[in-house]
Amino acid sequence: MQVTSLIHSLRILRDKTTNPSLFIPQQEPNRSRRSVVLVATGKGVADTTLSRYLFALLSQPHNLPSRFQLEASLLKEGENMDYVYGPGRNNLFVPGPVNIPEPVIRAMNRNNEDYRSPAIPAMTKILLEDVKKIFKTTTGTPFMIPTTGTGAWESALTNTLSPGDRIVSFLIGQFSLLWIDQQQRLKFNVDVVESEWGQGANLDILAEKLAADHAHTIKAICIVHNETATGVTNNLATVRKLLDHYRHPALLLVDGVSSICALDFRMDEWGVDVALTGSQKALSLPTGIGIVCASPKALEASKSAKSVRVFFDWNDYLKFYKLGTYWPYTPSIQLLYGLRAALDLIFEEGLDNVIARHTRLGTATRLAVEAWGLKNCTQKEEWYSDTVTAVVVPPYIDSAEIVKRAWKRYNLSLGLGLNKVAGKVFRIGHLGNLNELQLLGCLAGVEMILKDVGYPVKLGSGVAAACAYLQNNIPMIPSRVCGLREGVGIAMHNVAEYGAAILQMKNALRNEITHRLLLVNIAVFTIFWLLTLKKASLGVGIATNNVAEYQAAIQISDISASFELKMEDWYECHMSYVQPF
Ligand SMILES: Cc1ncc(COP(=O)(O)O)c(C=O)c1O
Repeated sequence: MQVTSLIHSLRILRDKTTNPSLFIPQQEPNRSRRSVVLVATGKGVADTTLSRYLFALLSQPHNLPSRFQLEASLLKEGENMDYVYGPGRNNLFVPGPVNIPEPVIRAMNRNNEDYRSPAIPAMTKILLEDVKKIFKTTTGTPFMIPTTGTGAWESALTNTLSPGDRIVSFLIGQFSLLWIDQQQRLKFNVDVVESEWGQGANLDILAEKLAADHAHTIKAICIVHNETATGVTNNLATVRKLLDHYRHPALLLVDGVSSICALDFRMDEWGVDVALTGSQKALSLPTGIGIVCASPKALEASKSAKSVRVFFDWNDYLKFYKLGTYWPYTPSIQLLYGLRAALDLIFEEGLDNVIARHTRLGTATRLAVEAWGLKNCTQKEEWYSDTVTAVVVPPYIDSAEIVKRAWKRYNLSLGLGLNKVAGKVFRIGHLGNLNELQLLGCLAGVEMILKDVGYPVKLGSGVAAACAYLQNNIPMIPSRVCGLREGVGIAMHNVAEYGAAILQMKNALRNEITHRLLLVNIAVFTIFWLLTLKKASLGVGIATNNVAEYQAAIQISDISASFELKMEDWYECHMSYVQPF
């Protein structure tokens, strides 16, 4: 085919179309290679019909100049040729893997180390204590396994159960389906409780099964806390209540892959026996660590569980925990440093603040979906997920086209609909190290795409609804306001210095947070009280908001180690007053 006629055909197509978002090269057909390549690159933004037409036109590349043949053959590989550079940051809004924050990326950018040196075990010991905090457990034993969520599932099952054991497992979407498949392949006797996709686990049926199970044949309840495929969050507190109500000893095994560290999760309070997550979700790390946390009851069960396990055997870890070397096999050094940095960021923000941020992100997304006139796949408010929203598209739109277009045109990555809901929903992941303005960028992108694919959305409607809510609800960034970096490090030896510090804080805070000033004043009062009571001879920087800042303050104010102990008391006291708001 001659280049001129190709371009001529494209022109005709352009003239026929009314969709202004279509891009067809404007170049004159001068037969130079450059202009031909321009035509070929037009493919990426042409809509499906047009690009199919273009492929058809290019199906006889033998008449074209050689460079064009190359382009044409790439095009003929079809729409799978998707790895290409896109300017700016990729807007990664799949529900995992999620964005990795810069400090974590930097922390991981390092050489390997000997994991048998004193440094890595020392670091591991603290990491194991710290990961317990994100599970909200003090009694659990964590295992940081080089694996993904799927491996963490297997670890939970094989360490606590024996082949043939009866499990009640809830099927509510693709990930619970996959877990059930694993349970069946591991030869457990799986009692599947199925719900329509978009609904939560049917706990009425669980109640019936527990009530009928006088012989305690049910050995475990397996439940996905947050079904990532449909954006459904199950109520674990109710599951625990039912188990307690029927005095049933079944183990409670929970997949917290897209919930832990983002949604309210309370391992001890809810009596969860094994909880697990993967590093690429709310922890905002690369994939590669499956964190599994076992209750004392689960550890006890592991002593008699007969499932074959090798790589995932908790006993191997426990042996090395006792030795103080911690690793039965080689850990990823980089991921350990990444985990350290990720946890530091989470603790700096405060776990409860992290959870509150996810509530805002989820609420804002749902408000946008409502403003677009679209439906949430999640059928009831009680199951709404604050980490992922699955948006149902009208039947005349293929949701996969939305995801494809998001990537190709807007450098935006959205989640596909999976299995039963393929083509019917697209998913917006809003979890991990993500802020509200990033989310607004995604929502704006979705609006444009909806319009591109022919859905009559009013541009700005979803963004406006989300903004109206967010503008009223985004708090001050704790580490920027409450932390008062300017105030930190001011050693106050006398009342005048306290006064000066308060003034400095006032300037920093301006008028907006009198409430906070009140709290700070209470804290200052506390310092006075402690100074008198404990006869401390030195003051310390005020308004430290977390351990790192407290330590910085200690350092800057040159307080001796012996004094630090007393300061810890003070810190406790101080923290109880100055809460981020
Ligand atoms: C809820 C849930 N469980 C388990 C998995 C499987 O995790 P992985 O892909 O890390 O094996 C996923 C993955 O997205 C998930 O969302």
